[in-house]
Amino acid sequence: MSAEAVIQTRNLSKTYRDFWGRPKVKALNSLTLDVQPGEIFGLLGPNGSGKTTTLKLLLGLLFPSDGEVSVLGKPAHEVTKNERIGYLPEESYLYRFLNADETLDFYGKLFNMTAATRKQRRDELIEMVGLQHARRRQLKEYSKGMTRRIGLAQALINNPELVLLDEPTSGLDPLGTRDMKDLILKLKADGKTVVMSSHLLADVQDVCDRIAILYGGELKVVGNVKDLLESRDETQIMSSQLSPEAISEVESVLKKHGATVKSVSHPTSTLEDLFLRTVEESKARPGRRFAPGEAPGRV
Ligand SMILES: Nc1ncnc2c1ncn2[C@@H]1O[C@H](COP(=O)(O)OP(=O)(O)O)[C@@H](O)[C@H]1O
Ligand SMILES: [Mg+2]
Repeated sequence: MSAEAVIQTRNLSKTYRDFWGRPKVKALNSLTLDVQPGEIFGLLGPNGSGKTTTLKLLLGLLFPSDGEVSVLGKPAHEVTKNERIGYLPEESYLYRFLNADETLDFYGKLFNMTAATRKQRRDELIEMVGLQHARRRQLKEYSKGMTRRIGLAQALINNPELVLLDEPTSGLDPLGTRDMKDLILKLKADGKTVVMSSHLLADVQDVCDRIAILYGGELKVVGNVKDLLESRDETQIMSSQLSPEAISEVESVLKKHGATVKSVSHPTSTLEDLFLRTVEESKARPGRRFAPGEAPGRV
């Protein structure tokens, strides 16, 4: 057990009870894990696997049925620690009739910030999440992506050390997703610890340092994302374009070393990359179209 972990859970369990107090759903079963300062930690799992339950236990919004949980060195039920935590819930519960400025001002007041600090913090956050153009529009007019952005700004109002994000990218289009992932990486660059939940595998792979895979309320896998995905019994060498003769020479060299070529191909990028490059290119050159099979930014 490391002394300086930001989050420590030990055999943490939660069983929801029905109206008569009878055990109903075992939402989390004996979760033991540590989150270290400055890392982006991903809770990954299908719907109903216990991600939201875990985050709520960390905040002390739910009481564990069994086990222990400490956050920032305090037991989770001590709510004063929440002043150092930012939380983006799965569904934002923001006031629909306030605009972005008013929303952040309202939450700044809850943290007893002075008018001058509130204004400065509001300006910083609105710029960070890219809502300058919409800061005076009521939230009821916001798109899903804009709602997620103002939700994040609200979660950061108190400049928290630890940020808990419940499904930060759900419902966002690829551009909104990319922006949200960049914002999460920026939080890490600012020295914050981030715990995010997601059922979207690519999002977790792109931003998280370590992940835990939950299934049916149980921890199945935990580790460093790169280590978990690396296939150690193969070696990949990437070179510039090779002629067929060069390839067969390489094959004979490998043979000499007792190795075999398993495949020879051109690397592919992801559909997300292609999509983002297409949007960039369309902004730069509005009239341009690509012929079938052609792709923007391919060299
Ligand atoms: N308030 C509640 N009362 C009863 N069961 C609940 C409650 N909240 C969640 N559950 C159940 O607990 C399990 C885990 O839910 P949740 O933590 O929300 O999962 P996830 O966030 O991974 O989708 C699910 O089976 C869900 O139906
Ligand atoms: Mg959830």
